[in-house]
Amino acid sequence: MSTKSEILKALEERRGQFVSGAELASVLGVSRTAVWKGISALMRDGVQIQSRSGSGYMLPKSVNTLTQQGIERYLCAEGLDLRIFKKVDSTNNVAKRLAADGAKEGTVVFALEQSGGKGRLGRRFYSPSDCGVYMTVILRPSSEKIAYLTVLAAVAVAEGIERAGGKNTAIKWVNDVYADGKKCCGILTEAVADLETGGVEFAVVGIGINVTEPKGGFAPEIRDIATSVCDGVEDARNKVAAEVLNVYFDYYNAFDRDRLAEIYKAKSFLIGREITVVKSSGEKTARAVDIDGECHLIVEYKDGSREILSAGEVSLRV
Ligand code: BTN
Repeated sequence: MSTKSEILKALEERRGQFVSGAELASVLGVSRTAVWKGISALMRDGVQIQSRSGSGYMLPKSVNTLTQQGIERYLCAEGLDLRIFKKVDSTNNVAKRLAADGAKEGTVVFALEQSGGKGRLGRRFYSPSDCGVYMTVILRPSSEKIAYLTVLAAVAVAEGIERAGGKNTAIKWVNDVYADGKKCCGILTEAVADLETGGVEFAVVGIGINVTEPKGGFAPEIRDIATSVCDGVEDARNKVAAEVLNVYFDYYNAFDRDRLAEIYKAKSFLIGREITVVKSSGEKTARAVDIDGECHLIVEYKDGSREILSAGEVSLRV
């Protein structure tokens, strides 16, 4: 572990208390100059450390920074390789490059901010600094798991937010998570095919969660449809990131399709609701009737005909 990481770990362990430079130097077995350099580097990385002459350095309790050491405090999932970047275009793009270069399953790319966060259907995902968790998990799944990577992410986000002490959440088929009737998370899964086996070489599952409300509120164009889930929760971003990964890898490693479908259905809120099914051929009003064992949505149209949707867009009619 680098000196910088060790300093951050020590400050994380004593959050809210000042630790002197001399103590850090002695505990870590480095010079005070090395401590000072490490602290400066952390501050340049965006970690909001307070420094007070005569007292030392402190990571305030109120600081909601996302750091590797912070996430690891709550992480139970084993064997993950967390990579945190200050600002990238899209964590999915970074993850795809790393995976193509051989990064192992369980590598997770985080960014404090994304300049070109990608949503589904070519949309943008609003990713301001200091308030969200933007992360992409690299997976090399067996064929039985491929169709479930996104469903699993929706379940992991919904359960993870609650475990972190956030709001109650519900899943809007297929992969949006809602709280208080508004969207709090989006998921974008991309995969690269392995033409020899007919499976996938790797998949990246990108997850964007509005953990706390951005300073100044959400952008006007999403203000009415977006919400945050952990305002007021201490160390919320690290907790949410870790808990989502804990749940994801619990279900991914002990993969059980039927159990997953059961949990997914129980957490979903569309069943029984009037919806609009959006297709390239046009929009149609329907009622969401059920979610089957493969997490497909069964809809019934006005003429009584039914369709099983495996992917696509549906919107709620209010
Ligand atoms: C959607 O709601 O349409 C999907 C949004 C997915 C956003 C996440 S944020 C982390 C990862 N990186 C991206 O560029 N997109 C995903």
